[in-house]
Amino acid sequence: SEQAEFVVVANRLPVDRVVAPDGEESWRTSPGGLVAALEPMMRRVDGAWVGWAGQPDLELAPFTADGIRLIPIALSAEEIAEYYEGFSNDTIWPLYHDVIAPPQYHREWWDAYVRVNRRFAEAAAAACAKDGTIWVHDYQLQLAPAMIRELRPDVTIGYFHHIPFPAHGLYAQLPWRDQVLHGLLGADVIGFQRAQDATNFLAAVRRRLRHEVKASTVTKADGHSPLVKAFPISIDTAPYRELAQRPDIRARAAEIRAELGNPKRILLGVDRLDYTKGIRHRVKAYGELLEQGRISVEDVTFVQVASPSRERVDAYVHLRDEIELAVARINGDHDTTGHTAIRYLHQGFPREEMVALYLAADVMLVTALRDGMNLVAKEYVATRFDNRGALVLSEFTGAADELRQAVRVNPHDIEGLKEAIMTAIEMPASEQGRRMRSLRKRVLEHDVDAWSTSFLDALADARAKKARA
Ligand code: G6P
Repeated sequence: SEQAEFVVVANRLPVDRVVAPDGEESWRTSPGGLVAALEPMMRRVDGAWVGWAGQPDLELAPFTADGIRLIPIALSAEEIAEYYEGFSNDTIWPLYHDVIAPPQYHREWWDAYVRVNRRFAEAAAAACAKDGTIWVHDYQLQLAPAMIRELRPDVTIGYFHHIPFPAHGLYAQLPWRDQVLHGLLGADVIGFQRAQDATNFLAAVRRRLRHEVKASTVTKADGHSPLVKAFPISIDTAPYRELAQRPDIRARAAEIRAELGNPKRILLGVDRLDYTKGIRHRVKAYGELLEQGRISVEDVTFVQVASPSRERVDAYVHLRDEIELAVARINGDHDTTGHTAIRYLHQGFPREEMVALYLAADVMLVTALRDGMNLVAKEYVATRFDNRGALVLSEFTGAADELRQAVRVNPHDIEGLKEAIMTAIEMPASEQGRRMRSLRKRVLEHDVDAWSTSFLDALADARAKKARA
C-alpha cells in the first residue's frame, strides 16, 4: 500500500467508532484536547494517522475520513484493560499529574504497554515513506520513538507530550523510569507544554542516564542528539469566532439563560470528568458561597458540563460518585422550585452547543489541580468577541503561563477560590473588556497553527542536521 511523507501516531484516531444500544454503529469525534489540536493541521497536510478506533477487537482496513488517511490499530479487551486503562491511565496519568490519585504499578500492565507501543511503532514505520517524518503523540506512546528509530533510521521523528512531566522526586517512583526515558529519547525533537515540563524531563535524563545536556540538546553516546523544548499547544480559533457570531448560536445562548431562569450571573465549568480538573474544589467553593449567603440561587447559577471519561478506571468511578453526591447535596439544600444551584450535565455536547454555553457564561471556571495546557480556557477566550466574561484560571495549568490577565487561583485554597469567584462575579464590564482583549490577543497570536508550525520547523531543522551528518 502507498506510504505517506508525514505520519501522525496517537493512541486514538480522530474519530471513535461508537455502537448504539440498538447495535447501530457510527463515528464521532474523539474526546480530549489532543485530537482537537491535531485535526486542523492534518486536514492541510497530505498525511496518515495511526491510532485506535476506541472499540475492542476491531480489525479495520485503512480508510480515508475528511481527507485524512486513517490507519486503525486493533486492541483486544485485555490490552485495553492493561495498556490503556491500566498503564496509561492508572499509572502514568496519575503519576505525571503530581499523584493527585495514587498511581498503580503492575508488571503485567507494563508488559502490555511495551507490546502495544511496538504495534503502533511497527504500523507507523510501515506507513512512512523513505526519509519521511513521523510525529508521535502523548503519554500512551512514550516507547514508540525509540522503537521507530530502530526500525526506520532514515525517518525524522517528533514526539509531543500533551500532559505534564513531573518533577524528578515523583518521576523516580516509576519502576520503568529508565526505559521510558530511553523510549522518548529516540525522537529527534521532544516537545512539552511548559518550560517547566522540559526542565523536569532534562533533569531526569541527566540524573538517571548521565547524558550531557547543553542548550536544550541532549548528547547521547551514539551521537544522536535530540532537542528538548516547550511548544505550548493551542486551538483553531476560527470556528469559535464564526460560531460566536452566528445568529442562531447567539439566540441559543440567550435561550440557555432563559432556561436557567435568567440569573444575573452564570458560572460555567467544562471538563472531562477527571480528578485532575478540580471539579470537587469548585463545587465546594460555590456551595460555601451559597451557604454563607454571599450569593443566591436566583442570582447565580452554576452549570457544570462533565463529559464521561475512562469510566472503567476505579479512580474515575469514585470521582463520579463523590461529585454527584456533592452536587446533589448542594442542590438539595439550596434549590427552589424555580431555580437550581448546580445544573450538572454528565454528557458531551457538539461544538455549537459548547459555544452557546461559553457565550452564556459570565464566569468560566478552570480550576484544575494539574493540567498540561487546558484548551477549554483558550476556547472560552476565543469565543468572547463581545469582550465580556471573566476567566478564573488555576495557576497549575499550562494555560496560566500565557493567559496572564485571567483571575488566577490556587484551587487547593478554598477561601482563595471563593474570593476569585466573587471577584469574577462582581467584575465591572470595563475591566472584563480590558482583560478579555488582552487574553484574546494572546490566543489569536498563538493559535494551533503557530504551535504546529513551530514544532514542524524544529523537525525540519532536525532533518537538515541529519542530512548533513
Ligand atoms: C487528554 C490526553 C489525550 C487523551 C484525552 C482523552 O487530552 O492528553 O491523550 O486522548 O485526554 O482521554 P482518552 O483517555 O479518552 O483518550
